[in-house]
Amino acid sequence: MAIYPGSFDPPTKGHLDLIARGSRIFDELVVAILRNPEKAPLFSVEERKEMIELLTSGYKNVRVDTFEGLTVDYATRVRATAVLRGIRAISDYEYELQMALMNRKLQPSLETVFMMPAEHYSYVSSRLVREIAAMGGPVGALVPGLIEQRLRAKFGAPKKSKATAAASKRGRKRNTQS
Ligand code: PNS
Repeated sequence: MAIYPGSFDPPTKGHLDLIARGSRIFDELVVAILRNPEKAPLFSVEERKEMIELLTSGYKNVRVDTFEGLTVDYATRVRATAVLRGIRAISDYEYELQMALMNRKLQPSLETVFMMPAEHYSYVSSRLVREIAAMGGPVGALVPGLIEQRLRAKFGAPKKSKATAAASKRGRKRNTQS
């Protein structure tokens, strides 16, 4: 069994791509949302849990949980043998390597497994999604429809500048193709 820990604020198409890949190689995958008292999130932990549950309801071996404290302690508690993390680009590697090695130091029997999301999601991050949505830009190509709706409920509909109209048209086209 593996855990996929993260902030998921909000979950993106990149996260879902990784969950799909992880669910194919692990018998059970637990998406574990960190309760981080130091960060003021956009979506509450409960909102994120509900959203990921809705988005992953089609996977029989995926469930969603929340945790506080160290990832290795949570992994030990739920008897996970692996931690799944996504690496999008070289820029992710240094931080992820440091975290994986630190987690190994803390809990040597816990293995970190890195997977690459589909390359067309390699530039997608929750931070940029939050920023674009807050400024009225289109995020339809970056997050599932459900998350787009929830972002719209927080920030209002995207403004129709030429750039945003063109991008949302491209996003819609890609969504209907895949
Ligand atoms: O989605 P994120 O924000 O990149 O996820 C980071 C996360 C939650 C995996 C990382 O911050 C974490 O594991 N936090 C829990 C506290 C912990 O274990 N810290 C030591 C990591 S070496």
